[in-house]
Amino acid sequence: MTSIQQAGSVQETYRLMKERLRDMVPEAELYAKAEIAFEINRIKKEKNAVILGHNYMEAALYHSIPDYVGDSLGLSRIAAESQADRIVFCGVRFMAETAKILNPNRMVLLPARVAGCSLASSITADDVRRLKAKYPGVPVVTYINTYADVKAETDICCTSANAVHIVNQLNSDVVICLPDEFLAKNVARETGKKVIMPSDAFSGNAGKDSMIVWDGKCEVHEQFTVADIESVRRQFPDTVVMAHPECPPEVVEASDYSGSTTAMVDFVSASKAKRFLLLTECSMSDNIQAENPDKEMLGLCSVRCPHMNEITLEDTLICLREDKYQIELDEEIRIKAKRSLDRMLEMS
Ligand code: 13P
Ligand code: SF4
Repeated sequence: MTSIQQAGSVQETYRLMKERLRDMVPEAELYAKAEIAFEINRIKKEKNAVILGHNYMEAALYHSIPDYVGDSLGLSRIAAESQADRIVFCGVRFMAETAKILNPNRMVLLPARVAGCSLASSITADDVRRLKAKYPGVPVVTYINTYADVKAETDICCTSANAVHIVNQLNSDVVICLPDEFLAKNVARETGKKVIMPSDAFSGNAGKDSMIVWDGKCEVHEQFTVADIESVRRQFPDTVVMAHPECPPEVVEASDYSGSTTAMVDFVSASKAKRFLLLTECSMSDNIQAENPDKEMLGLCSVRCPHMNEITLEDTLICLREDKYQIELDEEIRIKAKRSLDRMLEMS
C-alpha cells in the first residue's frame, strides 16, 4: 500500500509514520508502535501473508501494516482473489468469515478471539428460515454484516456500497432485507419501496413494492442524531456532512452525502470543500485526516466501535507469529453462504 510497509528499519518505519500521522498518535507511543509495525511487516513477508485493513482501523495500524485497505465490498473482492498463504483480516469476525467463505484454501486469521458486530448478532439462521416459511419465494437480501449460517439461508448478500443497486435489480414486488432496519429504510427510500417491520411481516401484511426488514441496528450509527448535524451547521455553516447508510434515515436525509466507508473516503479526496463532518466510526475521520492534511475533519466524533477496537497492532503481531485466531467454517454452510456472496459479486 504505502512505503511504510516496505520500510527497511524501525527508524525508517517511525519516520514515515510520523510524517503521515503527525500528532495523531502521542509521541510516547509512536516509536513503540513503529517497532511492532516493522516486525509485522517483516513476518508478513516471511509467512507469505497479506493484511487487509478495514477503513475503521485505528490510525497507527491503518497506515502502517495493511497491504490493502477498504470497505466490506472492496476487501471481499481482494480476499476472494488472494494467492497468499495467510489472509490476516484487521476488521471484525463477519469480514474474516467472508474471506474464508470466498477463499477456503487460504488460512484466514482474525487478530481477536471475538470482534463481533451488533448487526451480525441481531439475527440467526432460524429467524431467516421463519421469514422464508412465511413468505415462500420472496427473495432474501442479507447485509454482509451477518455470520455464515445466516448468509447460507440467503439468496443474495449486499453491502452498504451496492444495496440499492442489488434491490433495484431484483425482479420481485416484495423483498426481504435483513438485518439492519436503518440500512433497509434508507434503501427503501431510494428504491421507492414500503417498509414492513417483523411484527407486521409475520401477520402477512406485505404487499406490492414492500420491503420486509429486521430490527437489527448498528450500536455505533444508531447514536447519531439530526441535532448533531444542526449543532455543527450552526457553528460551521460550510461543513459537508456525510453519513453512513447504517445511520437513522432522518440523519441520512439531513446529510449532504451518504455512502459506504470507501465511498466517503473517496468523496473527501475528490471534494473541493474544506470542512467535513463524518457520521460514522470515529477512527475513519483520523484516517482521512492523515491522508488529506489540507482539509479539516471535525473532531467531534466520540463513537468508537468496540468490536473494531479489539484489533490492535499488538494482537496482530501475536496473530501472525502464532497463526491465531484461525477462521473455521462448516463446509456445507460455507458452500451455501458462498452462493449468496457470489451472486452479490456478479451483480455489483
Ligand atoms: P462498509 O462496508 O461501508 O465498510 O461498512 C461496514 C461496517 O461495518 C460499517 O459499520
Ligand atoms: Fe458492526 Fe456497527 Fe461496528 Fe460496523 S460499526 S462493525 S456495523 S457494530
